[in-house]
Amino acid sequence: MNYHESAKWLLNELGCSPEIAIILGTGLGDLAESFEIKKLIPYKDIPGFATSTAPSHKGNLILVEIADKPVLFLQGRFHYYEGYDMQEVVFPTRTLTAMGLKTLIVTNAAGSLRKEMSPGSIVQITDHINFMGRNPLIGPNDEEMGERFPSMNEQYDPQYRAITDEIAREKGIKTHHGIYVAVTGPNLETRAECAAFQMWGADLVGMSTVPEVLVARHGGVRVLAYSIVTNYSNLFHSDAHSQEEIRHNAAIASSNLKSIICEFIARI
Ligand code: HPA
Repeated sequence: MNYHESAKWLLNELGCSPEIAIILGTGLGDLAESFEIKKLIPYKDIPGFATSTAPSHKGNLILVEIADKPVLFLQGRFHYYEGYDMQEVVFPTRTLTAMGLKTLIVTNAAGSLRKEMSPGSIVQITDHINFMGRNPLIGPNDEEMGERFPSMNEQYDPQYRAITDEIAREKGIKTHHGIYVAVTGPNLETRAECAAFQMWGADLVGMSTVPEVLVARHGGVRVLAYSIVTNYSNLFHSDAHSQEEIRHNAAIASSNLKSIICEFIARI
């Protein structure tokens, strides 16, 4: 099954062609359920989609309306560390892009490489470093989607970043700006790795997002991305982080992030 066929299936199933989608990261999955659900399709029912295995990730595509606009939530994502190949990881983003998506909002949980970005912080991603050693764009280029050598200049949309900065200011929500380095995981980073990432200029480390952003940009979709800091990296302490800790910190920030995203959707 290729994503063009999945896109056709979904367009038919949804009866509309949403231009905005939001990928919900670890601890943020419940956000979709605070809206009136117009349609919920489990990933396992969507031709071509794999099924989510991460414990805190549900696997559903959810249609809601925000500011009178149809919006799709991807509740749960496929991580490379779960054993999916890169094409499976990006299949949902590819499918939505093939359906005519214009705006992708990506969220994730991340570890912090900066003392000032403490657990519970909301960080707008300004740039990334792909340290996964993998790239979903490797292979034959889908010319229908985009060009062979897509530019990664301003892949985090400057206009979207300005709009959301303004919204955060108006609402009195403190947000940071940061550079995200993507690793495969599943182990958390060593102290030496964290120190190296910090020297490269990275502020956040995580195990997702970059593959999705690469294919979205390849397909001409505009991207806004936020991390919620769930833990300090090993630079600051060496305790293991429980899943409970990660979920708790994500919950604190998620209602603020929801309020920024809803207002952003109203303004674009
Ligand atoms: N490292 C990588 N990915 C993560 C982390 C981390 O510390 N926290 C949440 N996702």
